[in-house]
Parts: sequence; C-alpha cells; structure tokens
Amino acid sequence: MTVADLPKVELHLHHEGAAPPAFIRQLAHEKRVDLSGIFTSDGAYDFRDFTHFLSVYEAASTVLTGPEEFRRLTIAILEESAANGVVYSETFLSPDFCGGGDLHAWRDYLAAIQDAAGEAEAKHGIVLRGVVTCVRHFGPDKAKAAALCAAETTGDWVVGFGMGGNEGVGKQGDFGWSFDCAREAGLRLTTHAGEFAGPDSVRDAVRILGVERIGHGVRAIEDPDLVHELADRGTTLEVCPGSNIVLGLYPNFAAHPIARLRDAGVKVTVSTDDPPFFHTTMRREYEMLHEAFGWAKEDFAALNATALDAAFCDGNTRDRVK
Ligand code: HPA
Ligand code: ZN
Repeated sequence: MTVADLPKVELHLHHEGAAPPAFIRQLAHEKRVDLSGIFTSDGAYDFRDFTHFLSVYEAASTVLTGPEEFRRLTIAILEESAANGVVYSETFLSPDFCGGGDLHAWRDYLAAIQDAAGEAEAKHGIVLRGVVTCVRHFGPDKAKAAALCAAETTGDWVVGFGMGGNEGVGKQGDFGWSFDCAREAGLRLTTHAGEFAGPDSVRDAVRILGVERIGHGVRAIEDPDLVHELADRGTTLEVCPGSNIVLGLYPNFAAHPIARLRDAGVKVTVSTDDPPFFHTTMRREYEMLHEAFGWAKEDFAALNATALDAAFCDGNTRDRVK
C-alpha cells in the first residue's frame, strides 16, 4: 500500500469548482450555451491567473441552472472523491449559485444535493457534509442572504458557514454580520484568508470573524508571531498545495510552506480546492507531499486525524467515519 491509498478526509472543496470540464461541456451542449471560451483545445479549464480563474469558474457555473444539475454534479463529485479514497468530505455550497440567495430555491437545491449525497454514501461509503459559503467579491449584502440561508437550514447536514472569493475585495470585518448570524445559528466557521492576501487577513479572520478554521492561511508563514498565534489557538488550516502552485503562490511542492507550518505546531490538513481546475486529486496531493517532504503513512494518518478532529460534523458522524 502506498501513502496515496490511505483513507482520506477532505475539508476544503468548492462544489462548482469540483465539476469536471466534460460535465460542464455536456450541460452547455444540452442547454445550447456557448462556453467554448473557457476551455483549452485539450478540453481543460483555461485561465491565466486568480481573478481570471474566478471568472471562468463563474462562467462554468452558469449551466448549473437548477437542483437537478446539482444532483448530477454531486454524484459526479462523490464518485471521483470515493475513487481517490476520500471517506469524509466537506463541500462549500454557495446559495449565490443555488438560486441566487433565495431561501425557497436554496432549500430545493439543498434537498437535491443531500439526496445525491445519500445515494453516493450508500453506494461508495463516502460521507458528505455542507458548508454554506458566501462569495467575498459579491459583497456584504449577498453574504447576508447566504448567511440567512445557512441559518435556516442548519442541522446535522449543513454544518458550517464560510467565505470564498476574491481576497483583494473588501476586508474580513465587512462580513462580521454574516459570520455572527451563522455562529448564533450554531454553525461552525471558516473563511479563506492568507491565500492571496497577506498575514493580516489571517489575523483578522481569527480575531474579528472568530473562525476556527482557515481556508489556505499559508501566507501566515510570512509572520512568525502569527504562526505562534495560530499554533496557540489551535486554528486548523485547510491547505491546498496543488491549488496554490497552479495559481502561482509557490513554484512547486518543495517550496510550499505546509511542512514548515506543521513543524511549527500549526494544525494543517490537505485538500484539493477545485480539483479539475488545478489538475489534481487527493491521491496526487498525497503523492506529491510524500515526494517533496518524505511524509510517510504515520504523517498522513496524523494529518487525517487532525482533519477529522476539525471536521464540523457531529460526533456520531465522526465515529462512523473513523
Ligand atoms: N479561492 C477563493 N475562492 C474560491 C476558490 C479559491 O480557490 N475556489 C472557488 N472560490
Ligand atoms: Zn477554496
């Protein structure tokens, strides 16, 4: 057995971003929408940089027009995750892409996604939970609508609230109302920080928004005091090395700070972010980390224990996955 065969826990996956390009092309064909501009001649997603990635992502999402499309997408995602040995996954679901922030529509999308997740669990044993996500560059008002959708559907399936999108737009603190709303509803919290913005964005995320997990957070490495603070607080980083490399943060796995963060006592976990966009899978992330840092089975077992500990699901679900 190689390290890549180990059972895996994934905490950071964007639902629309996990759509295989062939899946999106098929929907575009069915709906007679011309999306040829977002694909390379080889059929991969085509983008130059992070902001272009976000616009290609949004263009691809335009053919995910209803609950049925999300049901099909969920089945496709979970088949791929299960094939990569993922046993538990948390996916970012955005009401903005599921009914435009309307609560009644959101409920229908969510029901279809949960239904598909139940089917995939019965077939492949993989367990999925949802983290409702607002999109930072859509602004605080859209984020409020997303938080209200999250608060109305919280339970043992929708387990968290978070924020993705362009870190260059606005400040973490602009979204305080939404994070407070989600926390009061009993949801657990995470936000993207320290991916394209520097260490201050990570500090604001833990101090102002009060999140217990950070999406990426890797640029904390630029500030030793912050690295200590994250270790002391027990904040978990949802690290996505392959994503960071494709988007140009680091030249390769060997230069990625995940090992230095781990060695400094920060809780690190590994995820794929938007796997087909970044030409990666959970198996590949494990293989590349093994190659770059010599991480062995014990290291990955510890990484998965950290991830399961930081998962937002209830204790019964955690025990079921263990
Ligand atoms: N970063 C920030 N926002 C996102 C991403 C990402 O990698 N994918 C989808 N939304
Ligand atoms: Zn992300």
